[in-house]
Amino acid sequence: MRRWISLLLTLALILSLAACGSAESQGTAADPSGSNSGSTAEAPVPTGGEASAEEPAEGEAPAAGAPSSVLIAYFSATGNTENIAEHLASILDAGLYEIVPQVPYTSEDLNYSNSDCRANQEQNDPAARPAISGSVENLEDYEVVFLGYPIWWGAAPKIISSFLESYDFDGKTIVPFCTSGSSSIGSSADALEPLTQGATWLEGQRFSGSASQETVSQWVDALGFGLGQAA
Ligand SMILES: Cc1cc2nc3c(=O)[nH]c(=O)nc-3n(C[C@H](O)[C@H](O)[C@H](O)COP(=O)(O)O)c2cc1C
Repeated sequence: MRRWISLLLTLALILSLAACGSAESQGTAADPSGSNSGSTAEAPVPTGGEASAEEPAEGEAPAAGAPSSVLIAYFSATGNTENIAEHLASILDAGLYEIVPQVPYTSEDLNYSNSDCRANQEQNDPAARPAISGSVENLEDYEVVFLGYPIWWGAAPKIISSFLESYDFDGKTIVPFCTSGSSSIGSSADALEPLTQGATWLEGQRFSGSASQETVSQWVDALGFGLGQAA
């Protein structure tokens, strides 16, 4: 009798192990819960090895707040604003466009202690629009334009007005930045806004001409575009 009981127990054990094995085989790596309704579809395998969770798939919109294309446009008479513009281009991996005057400024033109110097005359003339040499190719492709200039008597040089009046900024975001001896960016950008119908202006930032890439990068981070990737 004891032999029969032991035989029955062994049989029950074998049957329960077999049932267990069958249940496990219904779960797959793609669906560890085992609730895949018997589908034989395999788990999707990433191709190319480069895709990351943050990258939108082809045809998908980029993450909200991340501009697709950024241009750094600047005027610099003595190289200070150019220094900041180059930092920005490197940080944002953006296009760089120098606003070059058709007639370059000589040091005498910039000698602001002479009330008659060219720069002072232009700043005192509301209608002054110094001509620009060359132009931006495909400005329409850019979503965000960082606009850099030196402060001249508390304002942007008139060549910045020439630049803004040369293009259609409707729908674009403009981010002003400047360098100066000590003045803040103040209301220099407010005076430019009416020249760009339909554009959104963000608050600008003043830098010293020798500001480091890290300083500029911190500002870009604070703008919140999600693009402040220091190079
Ligand atoms: C005509 C003129 C006016 C200036 N006015 C001011 C000013 O009002 N406040 C100030 O802090 N710096 C002033 N500066 C100094 C410049 O803003 C500063 O040197 C700037 O960094 C120059 O930039 P850049 O090298 O890109 O031309 C003036 C310079 C010039 C030539």
